[in-house]
Amino acid sequence: MTTTLTAIAPVTKTEIRDELEAAWRLSDYLFEMIGEDNWLTQPIPLRHPFIFYLGHLPAFAYNQLERLLNCGPHHETFDKLFERGIDPLSEESRQKSQISQWPEVAEVVQYRNEVRDRLRAMFDDVAERATGDRLADKYRIYHVVLEHEQMHHETLLYMIHETPTETLHRPADWPDLVTGAARLTREPVDVKAGPVRLGAEFHEMPFLWDNETPSHTVHVDRFTIDSLPITVGEYAEFITSGGYTNPDFWSEADWRWRESAGLAHPQSWRRKPDGGFDVRSLFEWLPASQVSGWPVFVSHAEAAAYARYAGKRLPTEPELQRAAYTSPTNGETHWPWGYRDVTPDRVGANLGFAHGAPLPVGTTPDAASAWGVHELVGNGYEWTSTPFAPLPGYEAWVRTYPGYSADFFDDQHVITFGGSWATSWKLSRRSFRNWFQRHYPYTFTTFRLVH
Ligand SMILES: [Fe+2]
Repeated sequence: MTTTLTAIAPVTKTEIRDELEAAWRLSDYLFEMIGEDNWLTQPIPLRHPFIFYLGHLPAFAYNQLERLLNCGPHHETFDKLFERGIDPLSEESRQKSQISQWPEVAEVVQYRNEVRDRLRAMFDDVAERATGDRLADKYRIYHVVLEHEQMHHETLLYMIHETPTETLHRPADWPDLVTGAARLTREPVDVKAGPVRLGAEFHEMPFLWDNETPSHTVHVDRFTIDSLPITVGEYAEFITSGGYTNPDFWSEADWRWRESAGLAHPQSWRRKPDGGFDVRSLFEWLPASQVSGWPVFVSHAEAAAYARYAGKRLPTEPELQRAAYTSPTNGETHWPWGYRDVTPDRVGANLGFAHGAPLPVGTTPDAASAWGVHELVGNGYEWTSTPFAPLPGYEAWVRTYPGYSADFFDDQHVITFGGSWATSWKLSRRSFRNWFQRHYPYTFTTFRLVH
């Protein structure tokens, strides 16, 4: 049985506008965390400094509307300067990464405010174009802007996570962290063979990115998967057992990368003088023993090395989809926990900064799937072994942003599944697909194993 995705996305003009205003407020809240002295800080070498992102969000938004409405540039220089982040594979992008003179923060803030005002005023212009234009119909162009902004909230948090803690401003309302050991024991879960539907039909949702459609049903063989992801405590044992000194656990390319990156533990950890580890949360360092139950956040290369050490493997995207969104009777569920009207916040799924950090694994049993697999959506994205690739029948339909997916169909990027504590729950729909480079160690991405 196939069900239709419920519109968790905003639908009416008022809903979209309200959601966009909320996303802008959240952007401002995040930029306040970085403090006045970090605008030119570049915490991740292959990303621009923070000031780029202050300008990028409005520049991207305006350029999207401009491409639809042909309304001319808003700011000849800023529209271009802030258009696109660094792509390490592009020469033009590498040159842009050499920019030594960024505009004043106040100028960029003014640009941002002007663009927001123009976007508020352009809804009616978009509505006039709606007839027969998929990007204007249902205000889809505003969904492009909205979801881009929401995705960048998580990207900003990766960068803040790499910025010295003493330079950051912790907001007064940031939640207290939940620490401690795993709340449940990991169990192997048998998932019987059967079909799973990847993606969705275009008409099922007010908006879908190009890589989410059309839907495609595949058969998945029977498999046994862990009910919970690997924790900080378990990963520390892997390091102690020679995980980062024994090349046998690593593919050749991954080992070369590990050596060149000088990684002897996850990027967000540091070794203590006594040989133990501290683990970074957004605003502080915590002893690994205190957060032993948190899901570990690592690159794909490190996850794959752990899997080899454990004599197991990473799941495929269809396996995780099947474990999350089907039931033992083969029906497709709307959420891992089933009912379409039960939103993630109601089962405690750790999305949307609800807890300001990951939770110890096993804390949200109400969010388990029908098979009994826990926290597939929320807490941490999860690495798969599936390279990011188009679904059959793919069309780069967002003509104002044709490279959104197509630029990454290169076998260097793999699918990450679910969503992290920092993912907006509006981006956690069943068909949404996310991807990262195998050697990108900064994201809130964990993994679980298949036996
Ligand atoms: Fe962007």
